[in-house]
Amino acid sequence: MIQPIVLTDHEAVSQRAADWLVERLHARPSSLLCLATGATPMRAYALLAERAASDPRLTSQCRVLNLDEWGGLGAHDPASCARHLRAALVEPLGLTDRFIAFDGLAADPAAECARIAAWLQQHGPIDACVLGLGINGHLGFNEPAAALQPHAHVAALSESSLAHAMIQGAARRPTAGLTLGMADLTHAREVLLMVTGPTKQGPLARLLGGQISTDFPASLLQLHPAATLLCDATANGRPAT
Ligand code: GLP
Repeated sequence: MIQPIVLTDHEAVSQRAADWLVERLHARPSSLLCLATGATPMRAYALLAERAASDPRLTSQCRVLNLDEWGGLGAHDPASCARHLRAALVEPLGLTDRFIAFDGLAADPAAECARIAAWLQQHGPIDACVLGLGINGHLGFNEPAAALQPHAHVAALSESSLAHAMIQGAARRPTAGLTLGMADLTHAREVLLMVTGPTKQGPLARLLGGQISTDFPASLLQLHPAATLLCDATANGRPAT
């Protein structure tokens, strides 16, 4: 059962998440990092970029894999996941040659997912995986369903994903999600789940309820032997201790 580490606010969670990433990079400099986007982890990435700017060895060997992408949005689209990671980490730290991401504009999205799956099979497993919690319990674009997909795949997007703030200003409505699968995430050596803000209170309570169900994909992290859950007091519904 994952025990949440409850911190005061989003900034404290971001600081602790940056510490977690720095520790993993010190322990294994060639780490394969799998990184979510969305609002929750971006401040932690900015803090990591600051640390790495003053200690370039920290990220001189690591590789960064983008967890998911909006189908129909290209790498230069301001709403794309790749664009967010490039701006926060990849470009400031010169990681372009070690950045692996889905091409949301691929003519054949299934073939694009097969490309990423083959890459991960050859270069995986993920060493350190940073995840956010979807309102409906999704991880990446692994949406609630009777059965979940193990590896990279094209996912139909739920209404809650289509309502995500990241794409509200996008010129095009995404057609699907391209995402790593649940086995890719649960086989990561270590996982960090970040949960902050009032909209995550219900989902966090459900996660901590302990029932494991494909109807709430994040619940599968309860089975992970090295998963850390960082949340703020607001998401947790009571003051930090
Ligand atoms: C999005 C993304 C996820 C992200 C999650 C939470 O739909 N597909 O990768 O982690 O939802 O986003 P946020 O951190 O903005 O709440």
